[in-house]
Amino acid sequence: MLDLFIDKTHDENRQGERFMSTSTEEIVYTKRFYIESYGCQMNFSDSEIVASILNKSGFGPTSNFEDADVVLLNTCSIREKAEQTIRNRLQTFRQIKKQKPAMLIGVLGCMAERLKSKFLEEEKLVDIVIGPDAYRALPALIEEAGEGQRAVNVLLSREETYADISPVRLNSNGVTGFVSIMRGCNNMCSFCVVPFTRGRERSRDAHSIINECAELFNDGYREVTLLGQNVDSYYWIDESKDEIVTFAKLLEKVALINPLLRVRFSTSHPKDITDEVLFTISKYENICDYIHLPVQSGSTRILQLMNRTYTREWYLAKIKRIREIIPDCGISSDIITGFCTETEDDHGDTLTLMEYARYDMSYMFFYSERPGTLAARRYADDIPEETKRRRLSEVVKLQNQLSQASNKNDVGKIFKVLIEGDSKKSDENWMGRSSQNKVVIFPKAENDFRKGDYAFVKINDCTGATLIGRTVSTI
Ligand code: SAH
Ligand code: SF4
Ligand code: F3S
Repeated sequence: MLDLFIDKTHDENRQGERFMSTSTEEIVYTKRFYIESYGCQMNFSDSEIVASILNKSGFGPTSNFEDADVVLLNTCSIREKAEQTIRNRLQTFRQIKKQKPAMLIGVLGCMAERLKSKFLEEEKLVDIVIGPDAYRALPALIEEAGEGQRAVNVLLSREETYADISPVRLNSNGVTGFVSIMRGCNNMCSFCVVPFTRGRERSRDAHSIINECAELFNDGYREVTLLGQNVDSYYWIDESKDEIVTFAKLLEKVALINPLLRVRFSTSHPKDITDEVLFTISKYENICDYIHLPVQSGSTRILQLMNRTYTREWYLAKIKRIREIIPDCGISSDIITGFCTETEDDHGDTLTLMEYARYDMSYMFFYSERPGTLAARRYADDIPEETKRRRLSEVVKLQNQLSQASNKNDVGKIFKVLIEGDSKKSDENWMGRSSQNKVVIFPKAENDFRKGDYAFVKINDCTGATLIGRTVSTI
């Protein structure tokens, strides 16, 4: 059994770390967990749910894995390289475990779900394997593993949304927070492992989302990012009011919590983002003018093989519509080079699409075949790695030019910036973001702003990745 003290006496001699629980009682944790997260924001957000579940079972967090009773890796399977990073990291923990055999090592997340119990055979020192929908079972699995049993739970669920669990914020700047609004994905993009690792799509109870966002606001947070693999297909029925909550409705409800709370969201699928969502963004000043709209490829033929269900023309019409309704909208993308059968012409189509779309930023990857996906089963991974890499470098080079041009175009403009903290390079400068999600740096001197404040900043310079300016008192 785990030791959990509910310490109401404030006895300083008790062992263990002290943390305030959400109730009025002070909990002293006698066991410690260490968690590292990889992959997308959903995974980082899940780690905050895991932290909450573990806290309730008497585990406190530690930022030093050598002190931990349980070391957890929340893993990603999206590309082969992501999995390789995890395996390398496990080597480090293996060394520690040699000196500290009682320390348990748990693998969470998408790689756990993909490999299931194979993980325990492949990586002998892993004690616990647990998939994204099974985190409530983690305390029980830790206990089983402690008794020397094989502890695996990779059951996917059609209902689990962890709606009732209040996440414990990890590594937070106290200003920007992430809120999961749905789980899983029903799209079957042929290259993608996510539908297999995260299961069917399900939307979380809207009330619990609003409550979590309102709580963040009351705790001093000034920005929430609503998270899902495909946020535009959010759909929840409020039976008490006979109301259908679409993503546009949800955005509106969150925006109405307080005008000082900024709202962002990720990720939109081009086939699902509606005019209703675009009009809602333009209606509310605190819903950020920024859309991440992954295109993946600029070639209609490749998009078909990818099963993305839109064409190049359809995508470009969507970009046009966004700019009509939200004229200053920041737009970013995800791009894959070297997908199965991709020709130089297809690749050329991706480059020209990027120019038409004038992306402010992109995440760019070369294709990595994932076992079990539609593409792995149907198509040969036939583009040599050298070609994939060369095409990727051309895409990256073009994006750098586009980002630079987009930033130059902002010089002379004034932006409302939410201050997130010190700039990375100097604590004499603030770092914040514009509504369009661009990083803005400006000197702290000459004002008395604090983290979480809004400042109006006039841009006088830029790099490819950053806008640089000075505060102005009026627009
Ligand atoms: N749900 C989001 C993205 C999820 S994964 C969406 O639909 O946009 C993030 C990005 O990783 C994808 O947009 C894609 O560009 C990239 N990606 C996914 N699978 C990949 C693979 N097998 N090889 C290379 N990149 C991949
Ligand atoms: Fe993967 Fe496509 Fe779902 Fe995104 S929408 S998670 S790329 S299957
Ligand atoms: Fe990776 Fe899973 Fe996210 S595969 S990108 S951690 S949903």
